[in-house]
Amino acid sequence: MIEKELKIVFTEYDSEQELGKEEQELLKRAKEASKLAYAPYSNFHVGAALLLENGVIVTGNNQENVAYPSGLCAERVAIYAAGAQYPNVAIKTIAITCNSKVFQVNEPLSPCGACRQAMSEYEMRHKSNIRTILAGETGKILVMNSIADLLPFMFKAEELKKG
Ligand code: THU
Repeated sequence: MIEKELKIVFTEYDSEQELGKEEQELLKRAKEASKLAYAPYSNFHVGAALLLENGVIVTGNNQENVAYPSGLCAERVAIYAAGAQYPNVAIKTIAITCNSKVFQVNEPLSPCGACRQAMSEYEMRHKSNIRTILAGETGKILVMNSIADLLPFMFKAEELKKG
């Protein structure tokens, strides 16, 4: 038996002004996207903006449904839109943010597990890390260089070939 440790790396910023210009712009686009979310059931609005390697920005926001599980998170709306429109272009960076109609979000958004898995698939698909920027309405901003830092034990395609 051996106990192992796994290290994940992220950077914490006190405000978005500390980010580079390109990342500030991407976060702005994520905020704008969050304003267009369809979230009448949770009143929790999430926006995601992806910067592709060709310079194009693709955005998405959460789309809810009265049959709750039929809705989709902002991250997957954005990443699947990019996959549908630019299947051969790698994703450089994703900015994700949120706001609520009922309280102020003072923590960076922490993407759900399903979205982490979906984003991880695109890192592996394009063999290219996706830099990830996580923000709330106020408070710290977290940045990681890879989705692998958000989901270290992701399910990988190789798992299907074992045995
Ligand atoms: N949501 C996202 O869009 N992204 C996440 O990472 C977590 C949750 C959405 C789904 C739902 O519309 C609302 O936030 C409340 O869960």
